[in-house]
Amino acid sequence: MLRFTRVLPQSKDGTSVSSPRAALQAGRGQQEDTGVSSMKPNFSGLRALVTGAGKGIGRDTAKALHASGAKVVAVTRTNADLVSLAKECPGIEPVCVDLGDWEATEKALGGIGPVDLLVNNAGVALLQPFIESTKEIFDRSFNVNVRAVLQVSQIVAKGMINRGVAGSIVNISSMVAYVTYPGLTTYCSTKGAITMLTKAMAMELGPHKIRVNSVNPTVVLTDMGKKVSADPKFAKKLLKRHPLRKFAEVEDVVNSILFLLSDSSASTTGSGILVDSGYLAS
Ligand SMILES: NC(=O)c1ccc[n+]([C@@H]2O[C@H](COP(=O)([O-])OP(=O)(O)OC[C@H]3O[C@@H](n4cnc5c(N)ncnc54)[C@H](OP(=O)(O)O)[C@@H]3O)[C@@H](O)[C@H]2O)c1
Repeated sequence: MLRFTRVLPQSKDGTSVSSPRAALQAGRGQQEDTGVSSMKPNFSGLRALVTGAGKGIGRDTAKALHASGAKVVAVTRTNADLVSLAKECPGIEPVCVDLGDWEATEKALGGIGPVDLLVNNAGVALLQPFIESTKEIFDRSFNVNVRAVLQVSQIVAKGMINRGVAGSIVNISSMVAYVTYPGLTTYCSTKGAITMLTKAMAMELGPHKIRVNSVNPTVVLTDMGKKVSADPKFAKKLLKRHPLRKFAEVEDVVNSILFLLSDSSASTTGSGILVDSGYLAS
């Protein structure tokens, strides 16, 4: 149902190459940057809901799903972002809500209808040293980054179970679910919680053929990523610890999301993909 179409590289005479091994060989020298073929997903006939679809990773995920044939429900907080997204992707269904507000979220999404693919991407990175951490920042962070994932997933999973259909849910976590930095106490804790929430959801939803996984990126230079790595000294030091000597591109994160949404990852659940330029190996 959720398909990935492999786009094989062309051989030197312009014809496509028939086997994966031949494709790899043909790709070498022609695609200097990766040397391997790209994957083109096809989600036609499916409905996808993306939270935090106004900016950054969520916006590009919504656009990629739209381009791959899915009907997309785009959920975010700033209406202007939804207006511009709907212009770029005609047919997208916009929903404007603050996911940190349980009642407003229930009202906005309670009757959302059938959803086959869910990307829980909305998040806030509110930085404070541990010793100065406040109740307000803690509650706001957990409400948006964790509680909304539980609430939106409940709404969507109930619909999948009632319809008796398979589905795939991807939670956008972070490599800071596993490592931390000064100032990230609360943010890291929300992402650590997502690791267990992902496993718990996978455990209970698996028998209903609903898979649940996470994507855990390093810094991605979106509005959020720029804020987190704003100190040039810190950014330089951080970059050096990445074996690939780079942060992640939005596209790299989106590709991992699409992979986990698709049947190409049909036996993967309760798991996560690190998009961390090797950071956790360093
Ligand atoms: N960028 C990184 O370095 C990085 C690294 C690892 C993981 N991540 C994770 O990746 C996800 C996306 O991050 P990003 O970098 O794309 O962030 P971003 O550029 O700040 O975009 C976040 C999007 O989520 C929306 N959003 C935030 N709070 C919301 C709420 N309460 N209700 C509804 N929508 C809300 C924002 O809307 P408004 O702008 O209107 O608030 C915005 O559209 C987050 O979960 C983040 O923790 C990011």
